[in-house]
Amino acid sequence: MRAAVPQPGASIESIQAQYRDVRAVTRHLAAPLSAEDQMVQSSTETSPTKWHLAHTTWFFETFLLLPHARGYRPFDERFTYLFNSYYKQLDGHPLRAIRGAFSRPALAEVEAYRRHVDAAMEDFLAQAPPDQLELAELGLHHEQQHQELIVTDIKHAFWTNPLRPAYRDSSAPEAAVAPPSTWIDFAAGEYQVGASGPGFAFDNESPRHRVYLPAFRVASRLVTNAEYLDFIADGGYQRPELWLSDGWDHIRAAGWRAPLYWEERETGWQVFTCGGMRALAPHEPVCHVSYYEADAFARWANARLATEAEWEVASARAVRDGNFLESERLHVAPAPPAPGLQQMFGDVWEWTASPYVAYPGYRAAAGALGEYNGKFMCNQLVLRGGSCATPASHIRASYRNFFPPHARWQFMGVRLADDRP
Ligand SMILES: [Fe+2]
Repeated sequence: MRAAVPQPGASIESIQAQYRDVRAVTRHLAAPLSAEDQMVQSSTETSPTKWHLAHTTWFFETFLLLPHARGYRPFDERFTYLFNSYYKQLDGHPLRAIRGAFSRPALAEVEAYRRHVDAAMEDFLAQAPPDQLELAELGLHHEQQHQELIVTDIKHAFWTNPLRPAYRDSSAPEAAVAPPSTWIDFAAGEYQVGASGPGFAFDNESPRHRVYLPAFRVASRLVTNAEYLDFIADGGYQRPELWLSDGWDHIRAAGWRAPLYWEERETGWQVFTCGGMRALAPHEPVCHVSYYEADAFARWANARLATEAEWEVASARAVRDGNFLESERLHVAPAPPAPGLQQMFGDVWEWTASPYVAYPGYRAAAGALGEYNGKFMCNQLVLRGGSCATPASHIRASYRNFFPPHARWQFMGVRLADDRP
């Protein structure tokens, strides 16, 4: 009854240390925000920071402390309902769209809830058997997912506010120049994809299995703002032949003519960042584009997006390092002038051409935790590689993120791929 692939051998001390570290990072991310900031929900897709603080705590209370910790007394029994996100096999939850309507419990009370659960978890982990340590590890990876959402959701909230406040002071855009994009070739053949261990993985990354791939190639770096500006200048948003049917209908209805957070002013394009508005930097990767836009750009560029299997095979030639949450930049950075595959990890989640579906042999676990990943395997696309808001320890080559094709408030970008000529 877990959404993770069981991994033997994570010690109590290691999980305890990870627990303290992960919970501290969440507090660090909330620290610049006032109680009013932490209540804002600027769209149905996004959630208030205060809700993220409470819901990640609810996860440990619901799946570990209440069923397994002898003598545990809940902080407030009403929170079981209030901070459930989408687990239908539990006793219901509020509508997602109204999470920002709750001024109570106050932020101070949510912070006290976190401390209450942290104290109980400290005692609980000290004597937890291996299967419950694995559940705790799942809870930590769940909290890391919400750390990224804290950043992307407050960015959206502050962009929605006409004052355009900054979440964090951040450095000026880097003047670095991205190197030319080149093709990296991969031979046709049979490859293995999926979680290979050791270490944590979500259930949707398994079973590891064989795939056959025709010869393909992927671009050495992400698509830049300058390249995306060429697409816009070439009438990219006005040419139906470049767009999927759903995508064309969507951009017409929504009035899109540029990525999210772009604004055209007399002085040129501006972009909203976690540090406020700034001039668009041409050599930074294009960011906050939907699948529809990524796909249309690729078609305009006489290329395509990689499948998730191609991406995973290619990633074996890349270093699992990059611009992650820990850089505190909270923004994309130009590709370094280095040979080989760059920016595969960090900066932006890369849209793939693959629908988010089950791997051969996958079965969602029984019980509420089986709802973690499996029930979303419809109408979503897979994204790979993590972003500048992803904790470095959260990402791996087999990681499958997924969003519907119109979503673009996450740090989402484009890497071109193609068949080998
Ligand atoms: Fe969650």
